[in-house]
Amino acid sequence: MNRPAAGSRPRSAASGRVTLHRGDITTDAVADAIVNAANSSLLGGGGVDGAIHRAAGPALLVECRELGGCDTGDAKVTGAGRLPVDHVIHTVGPVWRGGGAGEAALLASCYRRSIEVADAAGCAVVAFPAISCGVYGYPLQDAAAVAIRAVRGALEVHPGVREVRFWLFGDEAYAAFERATQPPVG
Ligand code: AR6
Repeated sequence: MNRPAAGSRPRSAASGRVTLHRGDITTDAVADAIVNAANSSLLGGGGVDGAIHRAAGPALLVECRELGGCDTGDAKVTGAGRLPVDHVIHTVGPVWRGGGAGEAALLASCYRRSIEVADAAGCAVVAFPAISCGVYGYPLQDAAAVAIRAVRGALEVHPGVREVRFWLFGDEAYAAFERATQPPVG
């Protein structure tokens, strides 16, 4: 019989967990790293990018200038200035162009690369915003499904990351991610 030995757990149950939170990601003092939904210049912007740079202070921009930008779907790490975490991981989500321009693969890559970079930097708890769901216009429910799937896959490959904390601004974003974490009914 092919039963697992007593006390063993399926691989997926042994990987890190995903938790959902409402509000401002810059208030997270539990995470080791916060992920920023940046643009390819990495020189700041509006939305969550603006909030992270305001809360971190000017030291973050000084570090970002050294990085030489970032491709869409990639991620780069810096310190966190005055934020109560060790690192900020800057990733660049895709602009929504209707879904036929590789947006889902690029968005999944943002989550995978951010977790890979977090693991390499020794971060066990990582906070994410809903990448691309603001200025970049990615439909929330589609983005949530891509995000949850990509994060679960990356957590299996990077057991050093124990928890991913999604910070969701507003009821609509929270509900979309809550639906995406639930198994389909029927
Ligand atoms: N905490 C958590 N989530 C937030 C916060 C916050 N403080 N502020 C906004 N959100 P966006 P994008 C949510 O536009 O779509 C920037 O100018 C927001 O409601 O920040 O990837 C960059 O420089 C939305 O659900 O990022 C780029 O140019 C989600 O975070 C561009 O915007 C992402 O919205 C990136 O656009």
